[in-house]
Amino acid sequence: MSKRITKAVIPAAGLGTRFLPATKAMPKEMLPVVDRPAIQYVVEEAVAAGLHDVLMITGRNKNALENHFDRMFELEVLLKEKGDRTKLAKVNESTDLADMHYVRQGDPRGLGHAILRAKMHVGREPFAVLLGDDIIDERDPLLDKMIDEQEKRNTSVVALLEVEPSQIHLYGAAAVEKTDDPDVVRITGLVEKPDEADAPSNLAIIGRYVLRPEVFDVLEHTEPGKGDEIQLTDALQEMAVTPEETGGVYGVIFRGRRYDTGDRLDYIKAIIQLAVDREDLGPDLRPWLRDFIHTLD
Ligand code: UTP
Repeated sequence: MSKRITKAVIPAAGLGTRFLPATKAMPKEMLPVVDRPAIQYVVEEAVAAGLHDVLMITGRNKNALENHFDRMFELEVLLKEKGDRTKLAKVNESTDLADMHYVRQGDPRGLGHAILRAKMHVGREPFAVLLGDDIIDERDPLLDKMIDEQEKRNTSVVALLEVEPSQIHLYGAAAVEKTDDPDVVRITGLVEKPDEADAPSNLAIIGRYVLRPEVFDVLEHTEPGKGDEIQLTDALQEMAVTPEETGGVYGVIFRGRRYDTGDRLDYIKAIIQLAVDREDLGPDLRPWLRDFIHTLD
């Protein structure tokens, strides 16, 4: 039996320009979704899938990210003195979550470039990548299935979501072949952000990957692509067509709830969808929301 993977890489070094000016001095991964920064949901998801070793790829403005997963003595002392255990627990929630490591990307030259910064830490074993601004609803688990498929097929695995054809230009799009499992496909080709007319399908890559270490060898010679950035999709395209050398690429089709918190509209939807189901906020929010919807008519 092979050892189950333990390492997660979380790229969080993008510039977050879609969310300016909020992201001028703060990483977009720190934007609060209800009452936790987006990145905390992502680290919690990794830990829930057994990935306790987390390497975060950070950029400028990284301090808030590191501080969030570190101790905050002044606040802890103050809350202890007050005897406020509930708030103290909230402060400590993120502190002991995982074994956190950080590496800087320097220039944000694309997602592929960010992942390559993880090479030394990961070594020659499969690992997961979770994008720091992409939240998968914890009620719709995905990563466990991806890790299982990676182990079973000894391949690299990406998460795919069916999107409206008019939206495919925002994602990497996959050409696929069926397998014996209706939720798993073999990927025969990938294109980064294609025009609707050129897209091989409406299956979009979303921010979860379980990769074989060969991805580092490929990224080392991947030239800048769309947007003049080193694209992970381009490296995966090469792996999809060289299964003998790199293990190929499979996709797990995700049919659950996912929020791209780097996009302003999706961010607002995420907060509403997550808050309405919360025990502490839902009972007050739901009736207010119903009334508010009437005012829109
Ligand atoms: P995005 O394309 O969503 O990030 O990258 P961005 O460039 O910050 O977004 P906008 O368009 O300017 O708003 C997806 C993920 O990859 C990370 C981002 O932090 C995000 O989690 N990323 C992207 C890096 O770590 N480094 C990069 O050079 C680019």
